[in-house]
Amino acid sequence: MDLKPVDLIVDKYQEKRTALISILHDVQDKYKYLPEEALRMVASRLRMDINEIYGVATFYKSFSLVPKGKHSITLCMGTACHVRGGPKILRELKSVLHIEPGQTTSDRQFSLNVVNCLGVCAIGPVMMVDKRFYGEMSPLRARKIIETINKKRSGVES
Ligand code: FES
Repeated sequence: MDLKPVDLIVDKYQEKRTALISILHDVQDKYKYLPEEALRMVASRLRMDINEIYGVATFYKSFSLVPKGKHSITLCMGTACHVRGGPKILRELKSVLHIEPGQTTSDRQFSLNVVNCLGVCAIGPVMMVDKRFYGEMSPLRARKIIETINKKRSGVES
């Protein structure tokens, strides 16, 4: 594994331990998860115990120690989104992707997660794909979004 990006990320934060969470976010953005080798390098560069690093990495739900899919699907199941049909959308996503929340498709294209609020309740139900919000979601729209991503991928690969 090429760990040069980890070096550059730690350099960017000037080896500050107080920046650990930001460093871990950047490392996860780079590798799509937190590889053990990368965490060991972060621990070494920050002169921290690896167990402390793991403590932080496992405390926050936004971090993953296993590889994530290329696309992150996050569905809000907070109260406002739940009462407007969140469970039906979740059922549709599970059916289309054949995975449960917290899992990644076998082709490593999609990871599915549910959260309790994305902070945009007025446009619920809300789904986020990578960093883009989709409001007033329905099961059909959710399916079409996944299908569109899959079609674009097929177009690029064919
Ligand atoms: S409850 Fe869904 S965005 Fe707040």
